[in-house]
Amino acid sequence: MSLRRKKARFAANPILDSMSTAVMCLNESLELLYLNPACEVLLGVSARHCGTDPVHKAIPELGRYSSLFRQAIDNGAAYTQREVRLRRNNRQPVNVDCVVTPYTDTDGQANLLLEFLSLEQHLRISREAQMRNQNQANREMLRGLAHEIKNPLGGLRGAAQLLAGQIADAELKDYTGVIIREADRLQRLVDDMLGPRKPPQKKQMNVHEALEHVRQLVSVDLSGSIQIVRDYDPSIPDFEADRSQLIQIFLNLFGNAVNAVGESGNIVLRTRTQRLFTIGAVQHRLVIRVDIQDDGPGIPEELRPKIFHPMVTSRADGHGMGLPIAQYLVHLHGGIIECASRPGETLFSVFLPLDPDRGEIQ
Ligand SMILES: Nc1ncnc2c1ncn2[C@@H]1O[C@H](COP(=O)(O)OP(=O)(O)O)[C@@H](O)[C@H]1O
Ligand SMILES: [Mg+2]
Repeated sequence: MSLRRKKARFAANPILDSMSTAVMCLNESLELLYLNPACEVLLGVSARHCGTDPVHKAIPELGRYSSLFRQAIDNGAAYTQREVRLRRNNRQPVNVDCVVTPYTDTDGQANLLLEFLSLEQHLRISREAQMRNQNQANREMLRGLAHEIKNPLGGLRGAAQLLAGQIADAELKDYTGVIIREADRLQRLVDDMLGPRKPPQKKQMNVHEALEHVRQLVSVDLSGSIQIVRDYDPSIPDFEADRSQLIQIFLNLFGNAVNAVGESGNIVLRTRTQRLFTIGAVQHRLVIRVDIQDDGPGIPEELRPKIFHPMVTSRADGHGMGLPIAQYLVHLHGGIIECASRPGETLFSVFLPLDPDRGEIQ
């Protein structure tokens, strides 16, 4: 009957096909009508391979819910099956909530729509939200502290300068020199703690323009034994961003990679676009991904959970403000930074939505 025809129509459904939520449709006999690509990825099965198998054969874990599925069709009532644990081929099991919704298709057939919501994704979203709140609280505290230091510091430096003008003794002048130098050092720290003060001034620009600017800026001081590999996707379209903030982000990450490799090593600058990427609770159709990867020793293990916190550093002359500032500026652009590190390979990925105002709230 119409099973083949229906499968063909479902297979061409661009909306379900492009959703990042895993979706499956079953007919009245609980046979597969359709699996979207997100569902194939989540469950580690292939729609083509499953064909029109009964659901308990295609995904044995769902077999024990068959009678509940049938009841849903009979009663026409939707329900949510919480915490369904699915084992998958060669992969970690996954915990999902399964929303089961009966519907009648255009031919009058009673079918079932199953949506699989990954609990890991929920956890990730709440972790991200928690991190944002924490960053916000840290920033406010640091800014308050920086303001308190700023004014007396200016007075201190001014007084030392006046004093230096009044004394002739070279040895005593050395002391005022120390006060002025140390005050300047503190001033730089305070400026870092205050962070960017202007809201982003966004204009249409290309991400490579900012990356290339940073590469040229940093390359001037690099030793010849540090290789920089560029792996750009030239098809990435222009997008709305604050040029100087984007430069600051890449400068901080690139600077860390240069510090990490030391005398010699490789740094890769990679750009890609990525479809359907969730940041916070917003699902974006298209994001830019900028990878800055180095083959240095990796982030010290004990620092890994807190490198985005302010004043966390392993460098004698570091302020530990590079990553929190980069993270903050990326947030101002609706994006996120992710990091993966092991000895010999550290990867920072900056995700920037190409459509910051057109994300879909889940
Ligand atoms: N690419 C990297 N490789 C190894 N460690 C890194 C890398 N990037 C950052 N780190 C670690 O994170 C810490 C914090 O970085 P950051 O916030 O930029 O501050 P700073 O550079 O002033 O130390 C660094 O001190 C270093 O320990
Ligand atoms: Mg740094």
